[in-house]
Amino acid sequence: MNFLGIDLGTSSVKLLVMNEKGKVIQTVSKEYPVYYPRSGWAEQNPEDWWNATSEGIREITEKTGIKDLDIQSIGLSGQMHGLVLLDKDNKVLMPALLWCDQRTQDECDYITKELGCKLSQYTGNKALTGFTAPKVLWVKRNHPEVYEKISHVLLPKDYIRFKLTGEYASDVSDASGTLFFDVANRCWSQEMLELLGLPEDVLPTCYESFEVTGKITQEAAKLTHLGFGTPVIGGGGDQAAGAVGTGIVTAGMVSVALGTSGVVFACQDDYAVDDENRLHAFCHSNGKWHVMGVMLAAASCLKWWVEEVCQLDDNGYILLLEEAEKIAPGSEGLIFLPYLMGERTPYSDPHARGTFIGLSMVHNRAHMTRAILEGVTFGLRDSLEIIREQNLPTTVVRVSGGGANSLLWRQIIADIFGLRVEVVNSVDGPAFGAAILAAVGVGVFDSVEEACSAIIGTVWSTEPNEENIEKYNRVYPIYHQLYETLKDTFKVMSTM
Ligand code: XUL
Repeated sequence: MNFLGIDLGTSSVKLLVMNEKGKVIQTVSKEYPVYYPRSGWAEQNPEDWWNATSEGIREITEKTGIKDLDIQSIGLSGQMHGLVLLDKDNKVLMPALLWCDQRTQDECDYITKELGCKLSQYTGNKALTGFTAPKVLWVKRNHPEVYEKISHVLLPKDYIRFKLTGEYASDVSDASGTLFFDVANRCWSQEMLELLGLPEDVLPTCYESFEVTGKITQEAAKLTHLGFGTPVIGGGGDQAAGAVGTGIVTAGMVSVALGTSGVVFACQDDYAVDDENRLHAFCHSNGKWHVMGVMLAAASCLKWWVEEVCQLDDNGYILLLEEAEKIAPGSEGLIFLPYLMGERTPYSDPHARGTFIGLSMVHNRAHMTRAILEGVTFGLRDSLEIIREQNLPTTVVRVSGGGANSLLWRQIIADIFGLRVEVVNSVDGPAFGAAILAAVGVGVFDSVEEACSAIIGTVWSTEPNEENIEKYNRVYPIYHQLYETLKDTFKVMSTM
């Protein structure tokens, strides 16, 4: 038995075929462009997603030699929060506005002002520029001629689902990031629909992540070589599906994803939010909930440093990380603030900026590299502290993403978090999680938890060092204070 997992990422779509034992048999990835028509705007063409995905499916089935009906089910995952608009003939009305598009601050301010504390009551979250509902309002205000034609609002991966099955459907984890969703009750929020004047039938039908949402149509079967009638399972937003792919499905387990963005993710058995909605509170893919802090720049800070500033190629990472390893924890008083893209959690502030603070003649490139790893990890700890304030158990951290390949960074996480850090046997994150959900969806496992414990195991573990924990506990409050001290300056600077 084989399962296909598809993760519609921001720079590429990743596909994998997994067997019922959880072994990944084949992976394929296909890239597509992101367009930045103005500063702070980010768009993609949904047709590019579909072309890349259908080509990827053809390629992966050919490569594996799997005949169409040998794929039992398909799971979808993808970049969250993006807005895809279709008219009554299912034509894409305008380019998709992406999760990292920042154009909707006025719309967020309007929603926040209109609803006040009721917003959290209705959705479990606050209005953030990346989320979907403010994007719909932006279209209404800026392109009324497009708004009038809207027949369907879809999330990115659900556009692929529509092309595969002809169904307008989504899953609870991805729907949670729209700000149209009543996360506590796992259904669309009538109040939010009312505020934006949107009829409910414009939004997709919402399923749990492990439920069947539709079947491959004749047309899609012909184009992709998948079997007609193959079930397509709900799947999840990339963070929830990624958490399934690393086995973060029980309370106490925390995951840290060190990709372009940095994510701290904790599973919770019952719905709960912090008073100020500093963390996102979303439905998880296992029928429960999770909280999540998202930093907009994480491993991308290291990439910026190695490639843009130090002007080194791929080998530069090894060189710089080896240098940084020789520097003592705390980088001899040098602190890096990682807000190169502004910030989302815990400070929702597009004006925040990156800085090195505390430079002196003792510091060299190695201190600066180490300070970057530490600064990003302190930023992640900001989210961890809020999780701890909510009294959620935090016993172990599982790391994934490009940054997790560095032993040094894993040790820094263990020391700054004061927790054991594990790496698991799956490296394919959301696509793997989507394939696991696909297997659960057709009854190969009774639950997501059962699938994860059968398939996912630890391959590496790093224990925190007591002496380093103490050192970092002295630096962390200084790091934490710096944003408060600098935020007004960042704002003034943004007008320069
Ligand atoms: C999650 C988030 C990102 C995007 C892009 O809230 O914004 O993970 O889904 O990957």
